[in-house]
Amino acid sequence: MMLLKGSIHVTTIFLALVSSFVSTTTATSPSTAAAAAPAPGLGLALHRWYIHIFNNMSQGEVLTTHCKSKDDDLGIRKIFPRNEWNWTFKENFFQTTLFWCYLAKDKVHHAAFEVFSENEELQNSCDYKHCRWEAREDGFYLFNIPKNQAELRYKWQP
Ligand SMILES: *[C@@H]1O[C@H](CO)[C@@H](O)[C@H](O)[C@H]1NC(C)=O
Ligand SMILES: *[C@@H]1O[C@H](CO)[C@@H](O)[C@H](O)[C@H]1NC(C)=O
Repeated sequence: MMLLKGSIHVTTIFLALVSSFVSTTTATSPSTAAAAAPAPGLGLALHRWYIHIFNNMSQGEVLTTHCKSKDDDLGIRKIFPRNEWNWTFKENFFQTTLFWCYLAKDKVHHAAFEVFSENEELQNSCDYKHCRWEAREDGFYLFNIPKNQAELRYKWQP
């Protein structure tokens, strides 16, 4: 009985300590958050990107695309041989922008991937401005601007 009372008492003290710690943390966090949201984030919020999709297929195939983000459906588009389609957007404040495309070269061969995401390697290849995706006979290439070369990223799926 003594032991039980003692442990209840200890638990009560512990909970009191925890709740005082929690309330202290809660009280200070808004000012911390305000102090930690300065100008650099605002600069990035206005960062403009361009996504390009080139139909560089050599056999005259029409490239069908359907690209979307969380907020926008860019619709179904057909890109004729040696043509390009592109769109531009400003990265959102929270830097969670993502564009995803379904692409098809005929009734069988298709690819589906993120043409833009918060992937550092992808953004670096785009030189923080222009993501140049290129459809070729074997798949999708991303033009790596710093390296000045197109790199095969996704093969057509049967
Ligand atoms: C293919 O796409 C690239 C973009 O990466 C473009 O600069 C180039 O002119 C295109 N090449 C051909 C052969 O159409
Ligand atoms: C976007 O594509 C069009 C062709 O559809 C082209 O005329 C234009 O120059 C492209 N814009 C950029 C910024 O590359």
